[in-house]
Amino acid sequence: MKNFNRTRRLRKSRVMRDMLAETSLSVEDFVYPLFIIEGINVKEEISSMENIFRYSIDRLSEELDELAEAGINKLLLFGIPQHKDSVASQAYAEDGIIQKAVRFIKTNYPDMLVITDICMCEYTDHGHCGIIDEKGYVKNDLTLEYLGKISLSHARAGADMIAPSDMMDGRIAYIRQVLDENGFEELPIMAYSAKYSSSFYGPFREAADSAPSFGDRKTYQMDYRNSDEAMWEHMNDIEEGADIIMVKPALAYLDIIQRTADMFLKPIAAYNVSGEYSMIMNAIKQGLVDESVIDEVLYSIKRAGAKIIISYHAKSYARRHKK
Ligand code: PBG
Repeated sequence: MKNFNRTRRLRKSRVMRDMLAETSLSVEDFVYPLFIIEGINVKEEISSMENIFRYSIDRLSEELDELAEAGINKLLLFGIPQHKDSVASQAYAEDGIIQKAVRFIKTNYPDMLVITDICMCEYTDHGHCGIIDEKGYVKNDLTLEYLGKISLSHARAGADMIAPSDMMDGRIAYIRQVLDENGFEELPIMAYSAKYSSSFYGPFREAADSAPSFGDRKTYQMDYRNSDEAMWEHMNDIEEGADIIMVKPALAYLDIIQRTADMFLKPIAAYNVSGEYSMIMNAIKQGLVDESVIDEVLYSIKRAGAKIIISYHAKSYARRHKK
């Protein structure tokens, strides 16, 4: 018998393929991470991340103008302070690097949505994401108090959304309460809910100078053998008041993104992290693949179910696809 089913009929022309595309990606989907450092006249390329720079505030406009031109209007800020100490005091200082950067951006680029990363590892001298006890363990509940202070100081500086990335237990509820008690009931929280302990963060730790000086983050970040645990983390964070939940990294965790999308009705963000970025950039540089693999990868994240994609590729993607 003749088989009448020919799937290729629907792939005949580009117009037809475009009509039938099930996923679309737009500049609106992206959040661009930015590294901001203390000092004057700094624009330095991060050696492990091609085309990604650290900026001092006086040169930040160069980057912000490029982003605005490309159509990117959402930022995730990371700060690199001049001084680090055991309690990350520069993370909640009123004139800390992030607080100054937020004020600068909101004053000069009011249309940019500014999200700030809430963590201590860039600000502690030991590089861990919380307060450390005598034995070298992170003290969960004491750390919450600091996360509350950091969050409030970012809110006061004018951040549009905060993104706790520390993975302490109970942090979302604690931060939510601190924000509410201080008049920031309307400030949304994007929780790094399913954050895996991953070697794909390697280049970021160089960029932010945040590698732990001893031990690792395995006691507070997730084990990559687990998927159910990620669902628990999401559930807890949603119950505690998270408005957006995140999966991080993205590419080795597409199954986690998809499962999250199947199970929860909250907006999902996926963080396409530094190591994932550098791997592809190096492969392109060596001529192993061409830059269209970037689109393929970004679409896979969207297809898996992420609504928001945090990616170092965002600017170049937006430029290449500018209408
Ligand atoms: C801070 C933080 C990290 C990243 C985002 N926020 C580093 C880490 O957890 O070690 C990594 C992002 C990236 O690799 O691009 N805790």
